[in-house]
Amino acid sequence: MSTVVYLNGQRVDYENAKISIEDRGFQFGDGLYEVVHVYNGRFFHLDRHLARLQKGAQEIYLDLDFGLDNLEKVCRVALRESGLKDASLYIQVTRGTAIRQHAFPHEVTCTWVVIVRESKGNPPDFYENGISCILVPDERWGRCNIKTVQLLANCIAKEKASRAGAYEAIFHRGGSVIEGSSSNVFIVKDNMMLTHPANKKILNGITRGIVLEIADQNNIEYSEEVFSIDDLLDADEVFLTGTTTEIMPVVKVDGKIIGDGIPGKLTKVMQEHYKKYIQTIDR
Ligand code: PDD
Repeated sequence: MSTVVYLNGQRVDYENAKISIEDRGFQFGDGLYEVVHVYNGRFFHLDRHLARLQKGAQEIYLDLDFGLDNLEKVCRVALRESGLKDASLYIQVTRGTAIRQHAFPHEVTCTWVVIVRESKGNPPDFYENGISCILVPDERWGRCNIKTVQLLANCIAKEKASRAGAYEAIFHRGGSVIEGSSSNVFIVKDNMMLTHPANKKILNGITRGIVLEIADQNNIEYSEEVFSIDDLLDADEVFLTGTTTEIMPVVKVDGKIIGDGIPGKLTKVMQEHYKKYIQTIDR
């Protein structure tokens, strides 16, 4: 049971997995990534993560020259070789290695990395009792729908949360709530779930999509619409969604208690549905 690394399709020891100082991912953040959850030795929607990677690649004019099928095969081999049951898969693709210049180089091949490592997940207490968040201004670029490795603004936001003793930082812009630094945000008001529309301002989370599908199947009302900071603070319930976050109840934002200060009823219902849903997915 160990961390398994594939670099450009070749298995390499973790210590010997090295990329060039001229890699465009290193110099420009010119690359994409995905994080996929592994439950009980099975990928959780690798298919959707690969589809998002492909879409992102089109958006940044990146030719996935190694082939998406090849990438999928390597992910599956890496997981098998790891022997891990509860794990996370990290995929990173960059435009490759070339002498530094802003314009895209010609005749360059992608650098692509697959890492499967053990994942312990968040403490159960977080899911049972909820976590706290802080609000931070969204200072990211205008294409947040693309899952690029340029995450400095997200990292600064998460560091601010961490220093404040909070789990997550929630971005806001022009008085509206956008998303978390590595999660999507849902609020519940009068049994209605609200989440930011999937436009360029947010990453359209795989988990977010699953939550909406679960809502559809169970006649739970929701709306993909912009809501304000006041709506967030006055919400009956708040929760976060994400691959590593799963469905995380939020009980405090910027020191303000949300609802009754405990995970809300609908949040718990969604957590239960999600737990069941996880058992059914192997693709
Ligand atoms: N982040 N929004 C942002 C900004 C994210 O970085 C993430 C995920 C999400 C949730 O997306 P999904 O449900 O597909 O995981 C929303 C990953 C997990 C990360 O950066 O580690």
